[in-house]
Amino acid sequence: MPETVSRGIGSSTVGRKILMAVTGQMMILFAVIHVVGNSTIYFSGLNSYAEHLHELVPLVWATRFVMLPALLLHVFFGVQLALENNSAKESGYSVNTNLRSTFASRNMIWSGTLIAAFLVYHLMHFTFQVISPEAAASANADALGRPDVAGMVIYALRSYVVSLVYIFSLTGLFLHLAHGAQSSFQSLGLSNEGAEPAISKGGYSVALVIFIAYVLIPVLVVLGIVKG
Ligand code: HEM
Repeated sequence: MPETVSRGIGSSTVGRKILMAVTGQMMILFAVIHVVGNSTIYFSGLNSYAEHLHELVPLVWATRFVMLPALLLHVFFGVQLALENNSAKESGYSVNTNLRSTFASRNMIWSGTLIAAFLVYHLMHFTFQVISPEAAASANADALGRPDVAGMVIYALRSYVVSLVYIFSLTGLFLHLAHGAQSSFQSLGLSNEGAEPAISKGGYSVALVIFIAYVLIPVLVVLGIVKG
């Protein structure tokens, strides 16, 4: 009987890697949708986008109910697998199946930790709006009486320190996805020796496109090119 079936998906290494891959791909999809929505800031559409999004109450809550457990599972099994890998290395029983170890692949636990810390900060800032409450969207309306989400984002990212925090964290996200995207295909059995170079390039490209799309926002705001 296959290992995943006989021991349950959450207790076998293969099962946990599949869960990591599926939850990771769900988060990549979220990241893509989120950056497309955020990019409406370039043509003064962010307040309208946010207003319409918040009108879709069931969709917003359904997404949160799916994404939060996905994130928690991803973090839990990621930490568990990293700890197991570490103790296997220490005891000399290393079974590293990565043919090519890279800086990104060796530091997944650190780039993941950076993303988790960034997410806490980001949610406090833009979702719960407790950092810089004077610029909170919930407390400031735009000319059309809508919560001023664009004003809040621009006020925050005009600061060099905040923009640097974003750029640094997004670099962590890039490193995480540069290895994670291709690795998720391998875990799902969608890669083989022939397809490996293409999957590897594809995963790297996904990470790079997401990075550029996100990082342009703080860069263009801090340079004063996007003013709202
Ligand atoms: C330049 C970069 C980013 C900007 C300008 C940005 C902007 C925002 C804004 C304005 C909100 C609040 C939306 C609202 O309630 O109307 C938000 C929420 C959120 N952002 Fe970002 N974001 C950025 C990067 C990221 C990244 C890299 C991630 C994930 C890795 C992320 C994950 C989230 C999550 C999970 C929420 C909460 C969604 C919810 O309310 O359920 N963001 N972001």
